[in-house]
Amino acid sequence: MSPTPVTFTSSSQPSSYTWEATDEEVSARYGIPLDQVARFDLNTSPAPPELAVRLLASHAFDRSISEYPPSDYRRLSVAAAARYGVESEEVLVGAGADEILDLIAKAFLPPGGSAVIPTPSYAMYGVETAQRGATVRAVPRLGPSARFAMDVDEVRAAARKADVVWLCSPNNPTALPEPDGAIEALLAGLLSDARTSGAGQGSGPAAGLAPVAPPGAATASSSGRETASIPGNEIAPTPPSTHNGRMPEPPIVVLDEAYAEFVGRSLVSLRASYPRLIVIRTASKAYALAGLRVGFALARPEIISRLAPFRPPGSVAVPSVHIVTEALLDDGILTLNLDRVERERARLTVALQDAGWSVGPSVTNFVLVDLGSAARAAGVAEELLRRGLVPRTFGPTHPLAHCLRITVRSEPENDRLIAAAREISLGDLE
Ligand SMILES: Cc1ncc(COP(=O)(O)O)c(C=O)c1O
Repeated sequence: MSPTPVTFTSSSQPSSYTWEATDEEVSARYGIPLDQVARFDLNTSPAPPELAVRLLASHAFDRSISEYPPSDYRRLSVAAAARYGVESEEVLVGAGADEILDLIAKAFLPPGGSAVIPTPSYAMYGVETAQRGATVRAVPRLGPSARFAMDVDEVRAAARKADVVWLCSPNNPTALPEPDGAIEALLAGLLSDARTSGAGQGSGPAAGLAPVAPPGAATASSSGRETASIPGNEIAPTPPSTHNGRMPEPPIVVLDEAYAEFVGRSLVSLRASYPRLIVIRTASKAYALAGLRVGFALARPEIISRLAPFRPPGSVAVPSVHIVTEALLDDGILTLNLDRVERERARLTVALQDAGWSVGPSVTNFVLVDLGSAARAAGVAEELLRRGLVPRTFGPTHPLAHCLRITVRSEPENDRLIAAAREISLGDLE
């Protein structure tokens, strides 16, 4: 069994996130120089954008680091709104997408409530749900031949009594987006169910529920700035009734778009027709700024105002606020990283396949490798760790226990992984 992950959750402890071994632990355990440990487990980028390096070196931030950041993160919210095609009142800033997930759980998941997760997906949805004392309703995704799509009918059925639905597209760890139209179909179904359920209670029509717009994604221009193909900032005239007791609300649907830049598409415009949609974005992935810890919730103002009370004061540091603001305002910053990922992903995929590894298709900055059995996946993980290469493993009970998730890193780091794949004899790891 792989010695990673190094942290385990005991049954008496709250549900928690599990990390792979740290650089220092890998170095100590395998005698690898610290600077030779390469992280293929975190879906980060090998280097930050040049703009960020320059701004950091200048020490010229919007305000002194002896001060707290601006309480409303105004410039950052305005830059994010322009970048993502929403109004600034529709933006909430957090310390990474992870803090946004936490705020959503606090605001919308009551103890005893429940949340639906098309599974497998990003582990934090389950952690946040369980930590709130709510129940996880896991709905298995379709298999690899269906590109791990969510089962729309099953998710819809499970969501009828749920408070929150956690969606992720492109999905971590399966590396693929939901099929075109699937999320729109789910939202339309959830609205219809809310109406029907309201009618069943003799409540009359569901006030203010606009039909879900036909599939229409925000698209990225060549500059990377997103424009909504459904008029981007359009707000449906009347939000669903929540106070008059006439109809139950449909669940909050969270659409985590942490990897959206890699496909150049966003479904944030669907908030016009599904008012309880929250889209999540981050500076961590395509912007290569994970260490700055900046993420966003994008939602209609009435949803943002439900989240805002849970926001801690000043969780995003002054340098992070400044650098991410400038990065979002910069039209060219994504190009280099997106080009690198596309080029290296193709090269890594072919080379690993040539070495006999089964590498799934990916639109993201990571790939999923199917090693056939949990034992072999653990054996390969161990062999990689010996070489200072840290893959993402899945625990033995995880539906992807037979897989490893591998981040697309720099050319030299990817070369090391490819060389390792050629050396490791899969047959010996049965
Ligand atoms: C789908 C998804 N959402 C959120 C996060 C967390 O992002 P952040 O660094 O912005 O907290 C990750 C990180 O891997 C992720 O894969």
